[in-house]
Amino acid sequence: MIILSIETSCDETAAAVTRGGREILSSELFSQADMHALYGGVVPEIASRNHAAIIGRLAEMALKNAGVAKNEIEAVAVTYAPGLIGALLVGVNFAKGLAMALGVPLIPVHHIRGHIAANYIAYPELEPPFLCTIVSGGNSLIVDVRGYTDIHIIGRSRDDAAGECFDKAARVLGLGYPGGPALDKMSQGGDESLFMLPRPAIEGHPYDMSFSGLKTAVVNVVHNTQQKGESLDKPSLAAAIAAAVSDILVPRVMAAAAEFGREKIAIAGGVAANSRIRADFLKAAEREGRTLFIPPLRLCGDNAAMIGCQGYYEYLDGARAGMDLNAYATMDV
Ligand code: KG4
Repeated sequence: MIILSIETSCDETAAAVTRGGREILSSELFSQADMHALYGGVVPEIASRNHAAIIGRLAEMALKNAGVAKNEIEAVAVTYAPGLIGALLVGVNFAKGLAMALGVPLIPVHHIRGHIAANYIAYPELEPPFLCTIVSGGNSLIVDVRGYTDIHIIGRSRDDAAGECFDKAARVLGLGYPGGPALDKMSQGGDESLFMLPRPAIEGHPYDMSFSGLKTAVVNVVHNTQQKGESLDKPSLAAAIAAAVSDILVPRVMAAAAEFGREKIAIAGGVAANSRIRADFLKAAEREGRTLFIPPLRLCGDNAAMIGCQGYYEYLDGARAGMDLNAYATMDV
């Protein structure tokens, strides 16, 4: 089955063509990050306008590079939640128009389910059940994937997402936006033991997480150093931040895998690109005898191939949207 998929939930405009769920025929991405960097974060209005200007050409490019004609498309899949509402609406309306014009089914796809599906593309052998953590700029979740469309939340961040914490910390360190990758790079060679950063726990909810206190602690370290006129060891602070996020996330995921009896663990979302988090997961999985699935960097961030992949499984499960499909800023996975 050939699916054309569309992703516009944040600041990446993406279109892809997939076959049989897991085979990518083309995957086109236009990152608007440079345009938002000027403002230190994503400006929703600018994101929506850019999606509207670019999505048509990007979809054409996806078809051309896949070597697929319009009449070969058998369904259109689109991210409809969660995300920036104006940004999502551009993709949803484009997909509606396309599905209607081509006379093919329209498949609504949850963005987080798409991130999980990035693992199916990377690992053809991976099948549910498995435990998965999704750590991105807007979400930090631990979920039990019981089936392709049967996903249960086990733990979540009570406040900021892990990626938001990386991005805000990077901003006070003068690293621009999006700061996660730059902070990761800066942390190489730093000495994490030079800074004591919090690793909060939520009583009675062992798998829930909190990152806002960590963010505030980093801001305080930077401001205190500036006020005292001292120089800041930025690589060591960056290493301490990555260590703290990893210490909050990795043990919870491993404990959840043990409790739910899952031998396989998958990681998804942009923060899964972090070198410290990857290394800690690898060590923990080896120690506890679990198989770890980490998608390659190009599949960790937002892309449309993962939406096409999950769209295939949603389609098999009977998911179809009408021309009244709406977009939603928030929605449980
Ligand atoms: O999944 P994603 O591309 O977009 C969504 O939020 O859906 O994730 C983007 C997030 C940003 O917060 C970015 O700073 C973070 O992933 N990120 C990283 C790294 N690469 C991307 N955070 C830490 N270390 C990285 N290497």
